[in-house]
Amino acid sequence: MGSAKEAGRPEFFDNYWKRSSLCGHVGEDAIGEEIKVNGWVRRRRDLGGIIFIELWDHSGPVQIVFDPDSNPDAGGVHVRAGDLRSEYCIAVRGKVTRRPEGTENPALATGKVEVAAEDFLLLAPSEPLPFEVGDATDKVDENLRLAYRYLDLRRERMQNNLRTRSKLYTFTRNFLADNDFVEIETPMLTKATPEGARDYLVPSRVNPGAFYALPQSPQLFKQILMVSGFDRYYQIVKCFRDEDLRADRQPEFTQVDVEMSYVVEDDVMTTIEGYMKGLFKTILDEDVPTPFRRMDYWDAIDLYGSDKPDLRIPMELVDLAPVFREGSFEPFRKILESDGAVRALPLPGGASLSRKELSEIEERAKKWGASGLGVFQMKENELKGPLVKFMNEEERDRLKKIGGLGDGDALFVVADPSRLKACTVLGTLRLDLGKTRGLIDEKGWKFLWVVRFPLFEWDEEARRWSAMHHPFTSPVLEQLDLMETDPGKVLARAYDIVLNGSEVGGGSIRIHDPAVQRRAFACLGIGEEQARERFGFFLDALSYGTPPHGGIALGVDRLAMILCGGQSIRDVMAFPKTQKAQCLLSRAPDAVEESRLEELHIRCAPVEN
Ligand code: AMO
Repeated sequence: MGSAKEAGRPEFFDNYWKRSSLCGHVGEDAIGEEIKVNGWVRRRRDLGGIIFIELWDHSGPVQIVFDPDSNPDAGGVHVRAGDLRSEYCIAVRGKVTRRPEGTENPALATGKVEVAAEDFLLLAPSEPLPFEVGDATDKVDENLRLAYRYLDLRRERMQNNLRTRSKLYTFTRNFLADNDFVEIETPMLTKATPEGARDYLVPSRVNPGAFYALPQSPQLFKQILMVSGFDRYYQIVKCFRDEDLRADRQPEFTQVDVEMSYVVEDDVMTTIEGYMKGLFKTILDEDVPTPFRRMDYWDAIDLYGSDKPDLRIPMELVDLAPVFREGSFEPFRKILESDGAVRALPLPGGASLSRKELSEIEERAKKWGASGLGVFQMKENELKGPLVKFMNEEERDRLKKIGGLGDGDALFVVADPSRLKACTVLGTLRLDLGKTRGLIDEKGWKFLWVVRFPLFEWDEEARRWSAMHHPFTSPVLEQLDLMETDPGKVLARAYDIVLNGSEVGGGSIRIHDPAVQRRAFACLGIGEEQARERFGFFLDALSYGTPPHGGIALGVDRLAMILCGGQSIRDVMAFPKTQKAQCLLSRAPDAVEESRLEELHIRCAPVEN
């Protein structure tokens, strides 16, 4: 590069201004060189005529110094350095120099150097900002961040998150291609695939009155691809579900979707263990030990009160039936006599909780569905609590033993006619106390397979059985005949993969016999006629020599969130939606013109507010 002020200096962006280095890559090795950098102005300090600017691009910042004494011409043609404002986009030409002693910033890769600007060009000014772009942006109201998502994404944390997500995609494609998986796209405009949520519907203009459904998952198509002989399929695919949103749920989200032929559970699980091991090594340089622990659904419920337990929290639930079954405390004895459960959560150090804290905890437990929350505390080696007076010596001793109560500990008790309810309330309390009392080992990666789920669960509202995963999941074959006689007892050949308390994937071995599939539909209250109407194409496909097959889908957003240490999947999605399923940036969903509705043969009923 010649002198900074060449004749014919262009006032528009071309090679003369095009960067010779990324901002964050300007290092000591470049000292003395003339370079060009392009980026955004962030943080400007004026110190007695010398102007310091942090210039950013995605690689990080570099300090630019505009010194009117040594570079009297610096300042561009139309603007001076003093006119530069936050997020103006500029090109700078200058010389890399060592920062004066005492002004280095060891926290930055470029912290030992700065660029003495010789000339710059304003490429694009910026409107005044709705918020400062930088670390502090995390504290800005999320709705404002989402409305100006392009600025939010410009900052380091969001850049890193989306780049990590991109690495996840690259790793996924490489890993699955190396393992003979074929990437195949399945339709977005399709027929409903039940995954337990409502469908997003799309009207068809050329088929008046008919609707496509956006896929809740590619479940049926990937199974059909097994019928077609692809053997090992994968797709990184958008799925759409109209359901209540939470921090780990979005109306559109991404799966790594996988299906394999001629496999049993172990084959799918081992493949995914290899995938996770490689992913964590590639992205975090972490060695995660395989195989992952496996746990039956009912063990997870009994021990952790959850089908996606966070194993970083040390406490396990205990069963107090041996204490109260023949005990003197009648309400608990009655619950146990009628097949209910009395379960407890130990809290080491919980004896120091005050009465006020205890009643706050009880209030929370009631919100989660408990009718009450019993508590025992071991204070100076003596068992305390409102129920102690109803228990004899032997019962107290047994309680201490089963609850593992040492001095200073506490035990929370829930009794409920439903074992599931008693456990899940305590499971929610376990998570809550784990978080609020700092009991989570933040450094651990706790993978777990939850297996042997029930095939069906009773839907009280609809008064019928519904599929715990989806209707295409195979029952454990030895239990096939229980489907009609005792559906609640049938176990599924399903497996969920859980990481640090988050369900990051789920799958199963499928039903590949159309007759069994019809029976499964019947158990779910889907009669022969309805089955033909909704899934006829699928039942037909199954009847042409379908190989045994199974698969899984991983939730990319949740995985990326965990890899990035985020709190919400919105942190790893470029343009997520709000709790009300709105995109604040593009203002979707939106009303459409009457003429477009007419074209689609749609008339909207008036909305009642
Ligand atoms: P499932 O419904 O369990 O299985 O979904 C698989 C994984 O997708 C993620 N996930 C979500 N992520 C963000 N927002 C959502 N609304 C959302 N819903 C689900 C979760 C979940 O574990 N077709 C089956 C898979 C199979 O059987 O192969 C399916 O979709 O991480």
